Amino acid sequence: MTIEIPVPDDWHVHLRDDDMLDAVVGYTARRFRYAMVMPNLAAPITDVADAEAYRDRIVAAAPDDAVDFRPQMTLYCSSAVDLADLRAGIESGVIRAVKYYPAGATTNSAAGGTAMADFIDLYEVLADTDTRLLVHAESTDPSVDIFAREAAFIERELIPLAARLPELGITLEHVSTKAGIAFVDDHEQAGATVTPHHLAKERSDLLADGMRPDLYCKPVINSAEDRDALVAAATSGRADFFLGTDSAPHPTTAKYGPKAKAGVFNAAYGLEVVADVFDRAGAIDNLAAFTSTNGAACYGVEPSERRLRLEKSDIDADLATTFSTANGDEVVLFGADAATRWSVTLLD
Ligand code: DOR
Ligand code: ZN
Repeated sequence: MTIEIPVPDDWHVHLRDDDMLDAVVGYTARRFRYAMVMPNLAAPITDVADAEAYRDRIVAAAPDDAVDFRPQMTLYCSSAVDLADLRAGIESGVIRAVKYYPAGATTNSAAGGTAMADFIDLYEVLADTDTRLLVHAESTDPSVDIFAREAAFIERELIPLAARLPELGITLEHVSTKAGIAFVDDHEQAGATVTPHHLAKERSDLLADGMRPDLYCKPVINSAEDRDALVAAATSGRADFFLGTDSAPHPTTAKYGPKAKAGVFNAAYGLEVVADVFDRAGAIDNLAAFTSTNGAACYGVEPSERRLRLEKSDIDADLATTFSTANGDEVVLFGADAATRWSVTLLD
């Protein structure tokens, strides 16, 4: 079976900086066109000049055989953001979105918010300029069970915010539960990115047969029932669900220590993982909507005119399962098994 789709976009990716940026950017740039670049560097990106400088570093690090790579820059929602600077950055086209992290929820989130309602003035700039707020929806209340944290955040923070600012476009990032799908169902202003790993795995894969740091991410991969709800939404063709890989590399030294860092590196084989999920769901005809057209429409751009072919065929090759950065850090690649079932060709 062969299917051709417009070159996909990745509406949520962590490209990091320095040696890690150099090592990972090619995986994204050779497969994806638009890439919504997360701002959670060790020093969060909170002003336009830093975003522009980061974009320049990304472009300089991208390989010459990149498809038509267009990094889209985001600012990190914090009190450090100057609203005039934000507005100017949006108007000049440098800033495409703002990302809200709950403080302490995930990697480099210490500078995040403690309450969404603290940033209403910032959201008003977004609503006014037709710019989306990207939300990491995860409660940091230690009394809330780890598998209930997305639902708790939605209930306590996101539903009230959406009601207060119905004109604000919201992307619920890396939706991981039925509660997240229900939030999108109930709010016309909301859409959601879905990751390859949340579509392909459930929490027993993470925990049942030896604990798997390579599958540990935030929000954590949830129940099989939640996974099934994500697959149903993503494969439905509905316009409000689209691919955001949340590809997030961490060195094995940080993943396989006493406290695994959250993040799955899937830029290399995420597309094959998603193709597998759609194929198993009998929904391969809706793949292009999810990977290449829904997100583009949501962010107001045309789908790519260039196409990419996926051919289902057994690949008899030893595919890489790790890569190394120039400074010797090793990173595990997610999805190599799916990549043995699909060959991917970029068409002219
Ligand atoms: O698993 C995750 N890793 N989730 C996030 O929200 C951040 C990311 C990272 O930066 O490593
Ligand atoms: Zn992320």
